[in-house]
Amino acid sequence: MRDALEELRQSALEALSGAGSDAELREVEVQYLGRNGELTSLLKQLGSLSAEERPLMGKLSNEIKGEVQASIQERRKGFDEEKLQADLLGEGFDPTLPGPSAPAGGLHPLTRIRRELEDLFSSMGFYVVDGPELEMESNNFDALNIPGDHPARESHDTIWVREPSSPGAGDGTCMRTHTSPVQVRALRKFGAPLKVIAPGRVFRQETQDATHDHTFHQMEGLVVGKGVGVSHMLHAMNTLLEGVFGRKVETRLRPGFFPFVEPGFELDARCPFCEDGCRVCKGSTWIELMPGGLVHPHVLKACDVDPEHFSGFAFGLGLSRMVMLRYGINDIRWMLSGDLRFLEQF
Ligand code: DAH
Repeated sequence: MRDALEELRQSALEALSGAGSDAELREVEVQYLGRNGELTSLLKQLGSLSAEERPLMGKLSNEIKGEVQASIQERRKGFDEEKLQADLLGEGFDPTLPGPSAPAGGLHPLTRIRRELEDLFSSMGFYVVDGPELEMESNNFDALNIPGDHPARESHDTIWVREPSSPGAGDGTCMRTHTSPVQVRALRKFGAPLKVIAPGRVFRQETQDATHDHTFHQMEGLVVGKGVGVSHMLHAMNTLLEGVFGRKVETRLRPGFFPFVEPGFELDARCPFCEDGCRVCKGSTWIELMPGGLVHPHVLKACDVDPEHFSGFAFGLGLSRMVMLRYGINDIRWMLSGDLRFLEQF
């Protein structure tokens, strides 16, 4: 039996080294190790061996089986590698060529205009500052001279994260409803004189439609110094508009009320889309673009700036609205939709 097993080992290994393909390997495997293979039929004779010989032959046949199996696996790996090489170097494939290039991204229109305005205002000596989106009620309202019972504080306008202990108490926390609290933070931090802009996201409890979203962007401007007045404000606002639209824009100033400025104004611009009235300007040829005014003495005091020595102006630009006007975007919901059909146009 030992001779028969040794012979089988020999011929199986020879057959394996002669196998030229995966299919041939498989044939050899079946021939020797298969259910009706040669090794199996030899093993059937184990029963007729003596008690001493039986375990020895059993052990030897296991050893042979393991050796043949290992050698099959070894050969199979070789075939796989050859196949891979052949595939790689096959006709029409050059592994040294660079892979397909990823599509190039673009900047969101909001980012573009924000960066342009940051450049413009930095060139005029303004700091670009930032504030938190989760803001203290006292910064968002109280320091800005907005009274405790002002309707803007109510939960149908403001998204409260921690409600004040009683309405208007000033100890709540909310998603900032405008960028104006950055005026307060910047003035307290840097003091007067100061020139800053503060672009950023703001949040309101809004039902969404073509002109309202719960999240949108504003840019605050603030200048505090000696003898700062309305003419300085007008100059800054007009410069800003020329920056955005790339040409002179006709503007007009109307009175407007905001608790943190006195006097307060609304700046309108001549409609850039029409001569004699259209949907955007609702037939009036003017569009409301930017509120602003002279910083209220209460605000200066709340920020430890002496209104006897300093005065200032502030304005609030609806950045989202400005971007929509410049690019002719007709629905504010596109802006933060993340929709590639929208984004790929810029
Ligand atoms: N914060 C105001 C708003 O969100 C806009 C505004 C008005 C900002 C007048 C100002 C300002 O700085 O002077 O409606």
